[in-house]
Amino acid sequence: SPEELHDRIMAAKATLGDRVVTLGHFYQRDEVVQYADFVGDSFQLANAAKAKPEAEAIVFCGVHFMAETADIISRPEQAVILPNLAAGCSMADMADIDSVTECWEQLEALYGTEPDAQGRVPVIPVTYMNSSAALKGFCGEHGGIVCTSSNAETVLKWALERGQRVLFFPDQHLGRNTAKAMGVPVEQMPLWNPRKAFGGNDVETLSDARVILWHGFCSVHKRFTVGQIEQARAEHPGVRVIVHPECPMPVVDAADEYGSTDYIVKAIQAAPAGSTFAIGTEINLVQRLAAEYPQHTIFCLDAVVCPCSTMYRIHPGYLAWVLEGLVHGEVLNRITVPADVAVPARVALERMLAARP
Ligand code: 13P
Ligand code: SF4
Repeated sequence: SPEELHDRIMAAKATLGDRVVTLGHFYQRDEVVQYADFVGDSFQLANAAKAKPEAEAIVFCGVHFMAETADIISRPEQAVILPNLAAGCSMADMADIDSVTECWEQLEALYGTEPDAQGRVPVIPVTYMNSSAALKGFCGEHGGIVCTSSNAETVLKWALERGQRVLFFPDQHLGRNTAKAMGVPVEQMPLWNPRKAFGGNDVETLSDARVILWHGFCSVHKRFTVGQIEQARAEHPGVRVIVHPECPMPVVDAADEYGSTDYIVKAIQAAPAGSTFAIGTEINLVQRLAAEYPQHTIFCLDAVVCPCSTMYRIHPGYLAWVLEGLVHGEVLNRITVPADVAVPARVALERMLAARP
């Protein structure tokens, strides 16, 4: 029963004390978030994974790529645990190392490898945090960098200063929205689809491109529409519409503001009482914010929006199981990134953590 699970989790956490730190992404359900020592967006959680070097285990209530990142940047002796190994990310799965390598080889054949007169290399790879460790390693090895939705503009600026163009993967929407906000014309952002090289763009179009987008997307954020925004405005005059940059470009353009999950949380915290918000992001976060800030009216743009089904795979039962494992000296569901991937991936992550606006 939920009560029994609650008692088991609390007992295990009390026994383990500072030996374990539990992290929770904003999209986790409340039944899990209540046990997290730190709740945040993917950038904050990457920092949090470094913040407790004395803990022997980091239990990551999030998805696989987040646990991999925590393993890469934490101390090697620290075990990173993903309570349910089936908690992946469909967007991260849309870019695999073989397809990206193949794309890279075609770009190298097209542009060569020599820097231009300003010292900018032909292409810099940028991977969204929502990607496998192998892709972060690829970026580390090829002069590239990682970004999250809260620092995408800073990172893209970093990359465009060092490269004539950027290959951005896996999320086309974050790449397109960010590059557009920085003044890159949308028509100069071809879509790379590995099933059809150059995504239908001919080589000439591609050669003008400053940002080449991978074809990936988030199935949760793809659901939001301009029609939903129009409806929210018609029904709630004065509503503030904030969407996540994983939403399609027309949705981001129609919204009043866009930003990472942390941006959304802070905007709500800073608003005068009685504000009305229509939010375009995952439902667990929106519902929690509505409950935490009863002085505002907060609702999700999509009335029937589904939760992120893979985030939802972290159930309190799995949390109890891995915590009790630690109590008995057993490390269950450990996520380990092999050194040949972790070393270059750390380079790309450290570049991100050091990048300044
Ligand atoms: P942020 O945590 O960077 O806002 O990303 C949202 C997301 O989709 C995480 O999977
Ligand atoms: Fe992946 Fe989207 Fe779920 Fe984030 S919300 S974990 S990007 S599927």
